Amino acid sequence: MGLFNKQKATQDLSKRRSIYHLEPKSTVSDSEIENILTDVIKHTPSAFNSQSTRMVLLLNNEHKKFWDTLMHALKEKMGPDRDFSATEQKLNSFKAAYGTVLYYIDTKVTEGLQEQFTSYAAKFPEWAHHSNAMHQYAVWQAFSEVDLGASLQHYNGVCDEEIRALFDIPSTWEFVAQMPFGSIGSQAGPKEFSPVENRLIIKK
Ligand SMILES: Cc1cc2nc3c(=O)[nH]c(=O)nc-3n(C[C@H](O)[C@H](O)[C@H](O)COP(=O)(O)O)c2cc1C
Repeated sequence: MGLFNKQKATQDLSKRRSIYHLEPKSTVSDSEIENILTDVIKHTPSAFNSQSTRMVLLLNNEHKKFWDTLMHALKEKMGPDRDFSATEQKLNSFKAAYGTVLYYIDTKVTEGLQEQFTSYAAKFPEWAHHSNAMHQYAVWQAFSEVDLGASLQHYNGVCDEEIRALFDIPSTWEFVAQMPFGSIGSQAGPKEFSPVENRLIIKK
């Protein structure tokens, strides 16, 4: 309960940014990070309370293994004729973070709903993505509140099966996104805003 505090809400939301210069340190303990993810997975909404989002927390060598595997696969995919140096630098900057959260959708849940509620069948995959994005945002926001920086990446589709084997990910889980995080090395630069009045209609 309690009144909506506009001043505080605005400050808190604006604190979350895409942070690319991350350090291999954390502002909070690993158990606090686990608590954040536990809270998010329990309390983030999902269509029909289907709870189709899955998250994987990678720390220490597991985090490094993820970025090394991706680096190797992307290098192979791009081939020897294309310049890999910029991509390599980018991936190394993510590897230099403290940890990574992987986001998945359990398609078994979505397919079960499609069978159960046929009139909404076409909508369930879309709603699963909506809910997954809400989890991503909730984690990103909660991290920013404890001064952890993070960014959102989409290297899925590169070597999903290798990653699945590496971390024993169930076969029904679809890879959606990755979020490297850690202490903030450099803050984000200023952000440009499209005019709010073009994006927000208020009728009263
Ligand atoms: C759905 C979605 C997909 C995104 N994908 C990526 C991505 O693949 N790589 C990346 O570096 N940033 C990605 N971003 C981050 C956006 O570029 C960033 O949020 C936006 O420029 C606003 O900056 P801010 O996060 O600092 O507020 C994504 C953001 C959203 C919401």
